[in-house]
Amino acid sequence: MTDYLASNRANWDDRAAAHAASKDYRVNAFGDDPEHLSGVVRFDLPRLGDIRGLRGVHLQCHIGTDTVSLARLGATMTGVDFSPASLTEARRIAALAGNPVDYIESDVYSAPDKLARGSFDLVYTGIGAICWLPDIRRWAQVVADLLRPGGRLFIREGHPVLWSLPEPRPDGLLTLELPYFEQAEPIIWNEAGTYVDTDAEFTHNTSHEWNHGLGEIVTALIDAGLAVTGLTEHTSVPWEALPGQMRRLPDGEWQLTDRPERLPHSYTLQAVRASV
Ligand SMILES: C[S@@+](CC[C@H](N)C(=O)[O-])C[C@H]1O[C@@H](n2cnc3c(N)ncnc32)[C@H](O)[C@@H]1O
Repeated sequence: MTDYLASNRANWDDRAAAHAASKDYRVNAFGDDPEHLSGVVRFDLPRLGDIRGLRGVHLQCHIGTDTVSLARLGATMTGVDFSPASLTEARRIAALAGNPVDYIESDVYSAPDKLARGSFDLVYTGIGAICWLPDIRRWAQVVADLLRPGGRLFIREGHPVLWSLPEPRPDGLLTLELPYFEQAEPIIWNEAGTYVDTDAEFTHNTSHEWNHGLGEIVTALIDAGLAVTGLTEHTSVPWEALPGQMRRLPDGEWQLTDRPERLPHSYTLQAVRASV
């Protein structure tokens, strides 16, 4: 396999400042309004419940808009990401928001070596996170290693069926073209743009992705010692995943314009580490 970590990190480093400057991430709202939460965390609220006083870690936190939002809900947050440029933005945004967050630079798979194992009440992740990881079973073990017994995983993520669709077709048909199940080899993309509206130009455009089937994710967590406590599939996703084929909903989410009931857009999965 090519050095996926180095090229993916360069890709994210290249894009972090443009993401933070884009209107899509609404960074300034954290300074303007002490009650502001990211759209992603606002969507999570009914399933997240009361997280006041919890010790939480956000894996693949990017520029930290969700991490800071969780801190605003009363959790003591640590954010983990392998992209130093993302963490520079994340630290600036936490200062702007006035919500302290501890940010740690690390590859997900090395996180248990850099953080206190078995000490977190909450592992939070998702929205374009696990697609960058080659091995879902290794990820599930990281989650188990970080949680205290009785601690909870909360992941909302793009649905693997959505990720098995190719670029939108002119005839609007949805066709399964890309792997649904985890493959040893990555899907390699070379894309000059990004998922926010920006005029910025990027130089590191290669990225490596893997899909993981829903059954593979659930089974990996069960085998790592977690009990699944909730699995909800949603008819919306927080980004325009199929450009030109989606409409914006009042809550800011995106949904297939034509018969959205055909497609699981995203899911929320919760699981608890068994108590010893
Ligand atoms: C789309 S963001 C997800 C975060 C959040 N949902 C958001 O939109 O702000 C993906 C993040 O994963 C990070 N990432 C990708 N692969 C990683 C890895 N192996 N270890 C740690 N972070 C990784 C990238 O640096 C990026 O910040």
